[in-house]
Amino acid sequence: MLVGIDAIAIALPRRYVDMEELAAARGIDPAKYTLGLGAREMAVAEPGEDTVALAANAVERVLAGRDRRDLGMLVVGTETGVDHSKPVASFVHGLLELPRTMRVFDTQHACYGGTAGVMAACEWIASGAGRGRSAIVVCSDIARYGIGTAGEPTQGAGAVAMLITEDPAIAAIDIGGSGTASAHVHDFWRPLGQREAEVDGHYSVQCYLEALTLAYAGWREKTGGAELARICYHVPFCKMAKKAHEHILPASTFETMVAPSLALCSRVGNIYTGSLYLGLAGLLDAQSADLANQRIGLFSYGSGCTSEFFSALVSPRAHEAICRAHLGEVLAARTRISVAEYERIVEAREPLGTATGFAYVGSESKQRRYVRNERSAHTR
Ligand code: HMG
Repeated sequence: MLVGIDAIAIALPRRYVDMEELAAARGIDPAKYTLGLGAREMAVAEPGEDTVALAANAVERVLAGRDRRDLGMLVVGTETGVDHSKPVASFVHGLLELPRTMRVFDTQHACYGGTAGVMAACEWIASGAGRGRSAIVVCSDIARYGIGTAGEPTQGAGAVAMLITEDPAIAAIDIGGSGTASAHVHDFWRPLGQREAEVDGHYSVQCYLEALTLAYAGWREKTGGAELARICYHVPFCKMAKKAHEHILPASTFETMVAPSLALCSRVGNIYTGSLYLGLAGLLDAQSADLANQRIGLFSYGSGCTSEFFSALVSPRAHEAICRAHLGEVLAARTRISVAEYERIVEAREPLGTATGFAYVGSESKQRRYVRNERSAHTR
């Protein structure tokens, strides 16, 4: 049975900051951000565009025009949830008025949380436990390190929603073929009650590369090293994907095998759980017609750490399916803001009332409230 990703949709904050402008404001050579890290633009979320709102907007898009009655599972992968107990998934389930009979939960392990959801959904369907039903997996996060920190140029925000089905129109996952690697390390973490992450930046790069070596070897052993046309990596910043690729394969293959998956990431920044899938969406948007029936590799890394290298077979219907995500329009609908405005937005604690689609509007009786604001037709 083929099981995997049938549809993808993304939701982004409506504002972004230009990385050359940010570098200039910090007194740093812009080439460090653009060439050294590979970043062009960085998404900036206002408090109304929280993890729930971004996830709900992405799910609304992925379900547009689809029958919801055959949905059996909703999983949200996130490391920037809005409550210690109530999952983001339950807000999304309510906002989208999804069937009562669904299994609904969050998965957390830093940036790996989304892949935990993808694997749970694929294995649920492949095992037969889903009884022919489909699953939605959403990766939704807001990456924050703080103004003026070394991590600042590697922030971002966004959500990627995926419909997981039998006979998928985008890519079938090679279930059981994954290589995995984990270790108890303090490379990146966020103590309870803290908005910004703590990170041992250079050590985190080393942890990522060590995990990749082991996970890739595990995948090769299980699959006999199937031929890969492209590889998508977890992208905390685009240069990381280059370092990763050159760590396991000849550097000369980077431009062909990896660079096409980075265009979208370079314009959004790190979206934690969704970064790998943002890379996949960007790759397919650019090259799906060439990749039909070809196998691609995917590497998911979550600090702390755990990781998984897996592969997927691109469907001949992928081009048609990715066109429905209208990625170019979603990007083009954003507004560029100044560094001063970015600083005002990230310091804000209450919604600014400018978010479109589903938006967080504040709390009443300690319960978070959301509304759905109208947005322009082309971003629906
Ligand atoms: P830094 O120390 O400020 O930067 O922070 P650097 O000095 O290492 O320079 C970065 C690159 O720019 C280097 O390239 C420089 O040479 C180059 P490299 O040598 O590495 O190839 N450079 C220049 N290039 C051109 N012109 C110039 C110039 N100057 C320097 N003038 C760091 C970098 C990534 C450490 C920092 O941004 C950070 O801490 N980021 C957050 C942590 C992170 O993203 N870690 C990635 C691995 S862990 C991970 O992926 C998990 C994560 O997503 C979280 C989760 O799982 O939840 C983060």
